[in-house]
Amino acid sequence: MSKMEEIQRICLNRGIIYPTAEIYSIMSGFFDYGPVGTLLKRKLIDYWREFFVKSEDNIFEMDGCTVLPEKVFIASGHLKSFVDPITQCKKCKSIHRADDLIQEKTGMFVEGKPVNELSKIIKEKNVKCPNCGGELSDVRLFNLMLKTEISPVGGKPAYLRPETAQNIFTSFQRLLRVARSRLPFGVAQVGRSFRNEISPRHFVVRVREFNQMEIEMFIDPKHPKCLKFDEVKDKKITVFTREAQKKKKEPITITAEEAIKKKIVPNEWMVYFLVKEFEFYKSLGIPSDALRFRHMLPEETPHYSCGNFDLEIKFDFGWKETVGNAYRTDYDLKKHMKFSKKDLTVLTDDGRKIISHVMEPSFGIERTIAGILLHCFREGKDRGWSWFAFPSKIAPYHFAIFSLVNKDGLLEKAKEIYEILKKEFDVYFDFSGSIGRRYARADEIGTFGALTIDYQTLEDSTITLRERDTMKQIRVKISELSDVLKRFLKGEKLDALGKVI
Ligand code: ATP
Ligand code: GLY
Repeated sequence: MSKMEEIQRICLNRGIIYPTAEIYSIMSGFFDYGPVGTLLKRKLIDYWREFFVKSEDNIFEMDGCTVLPEKVFIASGHLKSFVDPITQCKKCKSIHRADDLIQEKTGMFVEGKPVNELSKIIKEKNVKCPNCGGELSDVRLFNLMLKTEISPVGGKPAYLRPETAQNIFTSFQRLLRVARSRLPFGVAQVGRSFRNEISPRHFVVRVREFNQMEIEMFIDPKHPKCLKFDEVKDKKITVFTREAQKKKKEPITITAEEAIKKKIVPNEWMVYFLVKEFEFYKSLGIPSDALRFRHMLPEETPHYSCGNFDLEIKFDFGWKETVGNAYRTDYDLKKHMKFSKKDLTVLTDDGRKIISHVMEPSFGIERTIAGILLHCFREGKDRGWSWFAFPSKIAPYHFAIFSLVNKDGLLEKAKEIYEILKKEFDVYFDFSGSIGRRYARADEIGTFGALTIDYQTLEDSTITLRERDTMKQIRVKISELSDVLKRFLKGEKLDALGKVI
């Protein structure tokens, strides 16, 4: 069993993430979050908001609808260009994404190549159906958007949005007013997106309904200065340049300032976001050697972007884009102006009427969660069960509360402590099974610490605090509990908080 498969097994068993409408086994590429997964996702979003939205003076948030009329996607170019190449098996009729299949079978990187070239490669390299070995059809393009209709009779064509971004562009006039008509300003949005992916795979890494956290940063291209660049200029990021990819060299690690001076990244806003993303993902428990920014090659760059630096995470099946950082220029606003005939220009302080440029970091929540699950996963050879070393800010629960046995007043005491702590911390109370099993269950869902009420509690009003990562324990006075637990969550080590027993 691969690591990701073992993680998936725990996710199913512990109600973290599991297939949607599983009892009917019909839909692939759709997953529900169970109680633990919902907490993990919510905390990730809250943390992201703190990190990327609340910390900025000129970024605010909106929340748009997922159904948008066809006109939006005619204008944005998605109807024509949001396509993937597919091939069908002539024997078993299964459908495959042609570029992925070629890469898997031949090792050739062919993303973005025209369909006739892909068809030729399939024939020349003798690529066959991975299911039955049958012959494959010529390659054709398939639009990934999920279609629907608005109104019951003679409905108007509409689509479930494939990215959250379009709501922001189509509301630009109103958002600009909120921003006091001044560039630069950013609009963030957290919400669902839908793509009719040809081959959903790797658990939640490629699914058909997913969540994005996006920021559209509107800037004046004549003044692309990032207001907070000085705060990040000495921080380092790892960049896999186009040159390094072509010459099969290693990625480079450079400071934000060097990235601008050497023209590796196009502008300060882009580097600012790259640095923040690097810090953010490291703080989620993903080591820096499993993170890199890849400058996408021209042929794989999305239709709306003049350059993408995608944050990739190293998974056990290879590197995978998790944040797309696109320099969308004035592409979208210009197109929506043309198709809607509305004025989406901005009057700058120095009297120029311009179409704003856009820098866009686009985070995938499911891929981020998959990266966290993988890199926080610990095979518990020493303790007999596997567990997740989630950082405290995203751990679904801060603490589990146990009574050593369910008699002699210990259960009641534990409940009393639970009632007090739940006002300040994310806690749960578990009194079923042996204490060892309860520790195992808490570790398996990445609970940051465990508190146990035992016979000594009744004598001296202390309880044990067990650290998930080391399994060490200290005794804490109930009267000091709240303060000690807060310090523990902030990162103070257990032996700094008390005598390890
Ligand atoms: P890929 O090439 O892997 O399909 P993409 O280039 O289409 O990804 P973007 O269009 O840049 O991805 O989307 C921005 C982010 O949204 C991605 O970095 C990813 O985290 C997330 N995302 C996109 N498609 C999916 C999907 N099918 N399942 C889960 N997350 C996705
Ligand atoms: N908004 C960028 C993307 O989803 O592709």
